[in-house]
Amino acid sequence: MRRKIVAGNWKMNNNISETENLLNKLKMQVIPESVSVMVAPAFTNLFSAFNSLKEHPIKVIAQNMHQSPNGAFTGEVSAGMLKSVGVSTVILGHSERRVYFGETNQLLAEKVNAALKNNMNVIFCFGEELEDRKSKSHFKVVASQLENGLFHIEQANWDKIILAYEPVWAIGTGETASPDQAQEMHAFIRETIANAYSNEIANRVTILYGGSVKPANAKEIFEKPDVDGGLIGGAALKAEDFMAIVNSF
Ligand code: G3P
Repeated sequence: MRRKIVAGNWKMNNNISETENLLNKLKMQVIPESVSVMVAPAFTNLFSAFNSLKEHPIKVIAQNMHQSPNGAFTGEVSAGMLKSVGVSTVILGHSERRVYFGETNQLLAEKVNAALKNNMNVIFCFGEELEDRKSKSHFKVVASQLENGLFHIEQANWDKIILAYEPVWAIGTGETASPDQAQEMHAFIRETIANAYSNEIANRVTILYGGSVKPANAKEIFEKPDVDGGLIGGAALKAEDFMAIVNSF
């Protein structure tokens, strides 16, 4: 049975008090045992969030990290720093990092290596642009992102990998991929992993969908056989919406 996960990517939102307010609302909710729930506050709020959720099933994760252990990288944060504040899962390859900060598949492969070297779990994001889908090259683009950013890892490390397919044209746009579009791509991703590694790894890896998941559409998307949950942006900033999505399985 694959792990069901709902992770909230808060992006650059919420100061320390807004973070505490949102976490206090989430802490009052009953978290279904069958779902792993995670939240990704901004770096400045990670330690207080970790302490606030210490005895709670919701886990705190990071939105990014640098590939080096330390050094002259102004403004960056290393895996070791994240581990030191209790964080052991990191989102890598989000389209906003790829588009706005020029993160290439090669750089992401280095970040994946650094995270795994520090015994961290990785939520590896990827997804096509609208023009890729319009030109029907979206499968080729997704396969390339996986092959060049992730498929160098050893078989044993797949237990630390969570995949997040996020079609860029659905992120923050309110334009969600249809459940069938999500299922089609998730099935393709599993097939691609099976060909590169094994059926066992392909069937065991959790694949999240991200891109305008809301309480109104989550159930239909999560019902699809190859969708194992969601990576949530805007809807994660409202406790009631985020919990409605968590309870959508
Ligand atoms: O990482 C999840 C995020 O990119 C999706 O954002 O606002 O479309 O749910 P949103």
